[in-house]
Amino acid sequence: MDSGTRSPVAQAPGALPVLGHLPAFLRAPLAFLRGLPAHGPLVEIRLGRKPVVVVCDPELTRTVLVRDRVFDKGGPLFERLREAGGQGLATCPSGEHRRLRRLIQPAFHHSRFAGYAGIMTERIDTIIGGWHDGQTLDLGVETRRIAADVVVSTVFGTGLNSAVHTRLATDFDTLLAGFTRHSLLPEPLRKVPTPGNVRYERATRRVRRTMSDLTAEYRAHGSADAEEANLLSLLISARDPGSDAPALTDGELVDQAVTMYSAGTETTAGALCWALYLAAQHPPVEERLMTEVGTVLGGRTAGWSDLPHLTYTRQVLNEAIRMYPPGWILTRQTEKDTPLGPHLIRQGTTIAYSPYLISHLPSLYRDPERFDPDRWEARGGEPEVPVTVFGGGARKCIGDEFALVEGVLLLASLLSHWRLDLHPGSLTLPRLPQLTLNPGRMKATLTARSHHGHASLASR
Ligand code: HEM
Repeated sequence: MDSGTRSPVAQAPGALPVLGHLPAFLRAPLAFLRGLPAHGPLVEIRLGRKPVVVVCDPELTRTVLVRDRVFDKGGPLFERLREAGGQGLATCPSGEHRRLRRLIQPAFHHSRFAGYAGIMTERIDTIIGGWHDGQTLDLGVETRRIAADVVVSTVFGTGLNSAVHTRLATDFDTLLAGFTRHSLLPEPLRKVPTPGNVRYERATRRVRRTMSDLTAEYRAHGSADAEEANLLSLLISARDPGSDAPALTDGELVDQAVTMYSAGTETTAGALCWALYLAAQHPPVEERLMTEVGTVLGGRTAGWSDLPHLTYTRQVLNEAIRMYPPGWILTRQTEKDTPLGPHLIRQGTTIAYSPYLISHLPSLYRDPERFDPDRWEARGGEPEVPVTVFGGGARKCIGDEFALVEGVLLLASLLSHWRLDLHPGSLTLPRLPQLTLNPGRMKATLTARSHHGHASLASR
């Protein structure tokens, strides 16, 4: 088929004048996405005046992800992300990506994970060991605090002091709350100094400054010991082939630090919250989970050597990220006219792919709305992960293994030490769709599982 005979992309029905599908998308984004595959493998929607082609087919999604030079990072989402976080690994265009990925990849090599898991266990143990019997807390906030601490401890080799954590978390809340608005508003409206816009700009600048301070502090006091090597020390000592000069400038280092913090905090915290919530809604799942955790850990915090035995915990986590993939919709910008399936995509077209949409296709997952961790029962070897929840191709999530190790350790450890009674109706979904698909607030009251104290020694 030549480009002249390729069929036009289907238009989603129901577009309103001027606003297009924006009201429907904002009102119920997940239901809106689930309805799109009925119209074709590629479906054009209009968010305001902006047309966006949504990929509704797993194979075509794979094609988009693999052809990362043609379907490059871009579109309103990544433009705003670059404004907020600079040109980090997740946001840079494909032309700069290969080099950056080569520099950063060693920090995520499998051989480093036993060491990272040791840090994770220690941080989890310290934080959840500080909770007390009868305490009511917001699991949305607390899981984010743990995930942030774990990322900073592994990236910077240092814990996050509580004043810095609070500042970063507050600024990130402001950023996330304003992000969708900023991605959807046309530029002139983004620049109007409304209180919301001013708060957003300030938070963006402060996140960068905080990361810049942490990086400078690390340069001044960080360890040169190879045993203690972390992402930042690897990046500081990185050299391009045949060069003695540092591969990354200070500004580029800060970009990477902001990227790892933002990519590694909300995502893992969201996955954890959904896993806890969904397990609590399905008592037989919760019971099996508790049996496994009790048998394997006997009241301890989970460590690296426990991972092969926490198979059901891993299945529950997998199923939670299938049901609610933290990165639920992402965009690409088409760099040249190109065929995609039976269609011709014009240069400049914004493409969206949605791990949420793909994870809910009945052709891939029978009865997709059912929470069923048994889908992930490993038949020998490692259990797979849901298609596209970590993206794919050259831009696939560099932190996938990190997230799964951390997620299993954290989920098992929380349940090992504490009974978490979720308050009925406490889950408050954010009103506007946000960058990640996280529950907003999730209140729970804690009861210690063991009366002998909770900070028992982990197996490392
Ligand atoms: C459950 C947890 C996580 C999920 C679901 C997730 C999901 C994703 C997805 C879908 C992408 C691809 C984005 C795109 O195609 O535009 C991505 C990229 C990325 N993620 Fe994750 N992520 C998770 C955890 C993490 C963690 C813990 C880290 C770091 C410690 C991390 C760091 C990154 C980075 C740096 C990229 C960009 C990779 C590149 O372009 O080379 N992620 N992630």
